[in-house]
Amino acid sequence: MKKDILSRHQKLSIHKTVLTWFTYNQKKLPWRSATPPDPYIVLLSEVMLQQTQTSRIAEKLPAFLEQFPTLEALAQATNKEIILAWQGMGYNNRALRLRDCAKTIVDHYYGIIPDDIDILRTLPGIGEYTSSAIASFAFSQNVPVVDVNIRRIFSRLLRKVANNHDMLSEKESWEIAGILLPKNHSNLWHQALMDIGSLFCTSRSPRCHDCPISSHCQSAFAVIDGEKTPKKEPTHRAIPHRIWRGKIIELLRQSNHHSENANYILHALFQENISTLDSDFLDYILKKLESNNLIELQTINNTIIVSLKE
Ligand code: ADE
Repeated sequence: MKKDILSRHQKLSIHKTVLTWFTYNQKKLPWRSATPPDPYIVLLSEVMLQQTQTSRIAEKLPAFLEQFPTLEALAQATNKEIILAWQGMGYNNRALRLRDCAKTIVDHYYGIIPDDIDILRTLPGIGEYTSSAIASFAFSQNVPVVDVNIRRIFSRLLRKVANNHDMLSEKESWEIAGILLPKNHSNLWHQALMDIGSLFCTSRSPRCHDCPISSHCQSAFAVIDGEKTPKKEPTHRAIPHRIWRGKIIELLRQSNHHSENANYILHALFQENISTLDSDFLDYILKKLESNNLIELQTINNTIIVSLKE
């Protein structure tokens, strides 16, 4: 990727436009309210926001924080407590990893969230995006941050793309993010891009007319096919496995003692015309959930009892 992809003047102009727009128009979100930023809240929100909508997390974060006000409290949560508190936030494995992350920080880093991106990267549930987001949003470090929205903005900004199959590669996006980063404004810059991505530069139908950076954008008014590339993932009855997993955990959250027999679950999920394919599938998913430490399986009088793991 060429370093001079934009002139110094163009870069300055984009920085000024984006940062000014953000000053007056940023979304009010609960994890943005602390000044200076609270690293624990940034860690929580960034893990929660991996694949779950901003509005949903904005709604759920305050109650979660009330239940687990500190990293130490989170580190001590049992599997069952954390899975119950994670209701509505999807991908339950992430909840366990977040608790394991808190525990690792308490056990190995004196309970202080590391500000070193390479150390952050080694923590459970923290990948390339989340480690850089924490370094940037909690510690104001000059590091690039790239999520799907930022990648889409850079792709459209820098070259004329008419559809979503023609994006910059992951590697190119990180390089561009490094080249475009306004020094000492990493935090506001990236959160501004996230807001621009969700308000204007959306995947399917971008609103170029209202976008503050449309005059800088190679693809402004040119996106003609905003269809998403469908995710390839395993399905049963045309529904992704992850949705079935979520439904089972939700049934257990709602049930007495967070426990049900497997036959009840089979009928609750599939209702009528249940085939052996369905019962084999349920066996398979239950074993997976058990190996992920989300549930426990016990056989009592030939009946399989499924419970949220204590
Ligand atoms: N998505 C992930 N992190 C975000 C943030 N800090 N603000 C808005 N949307 C986000």
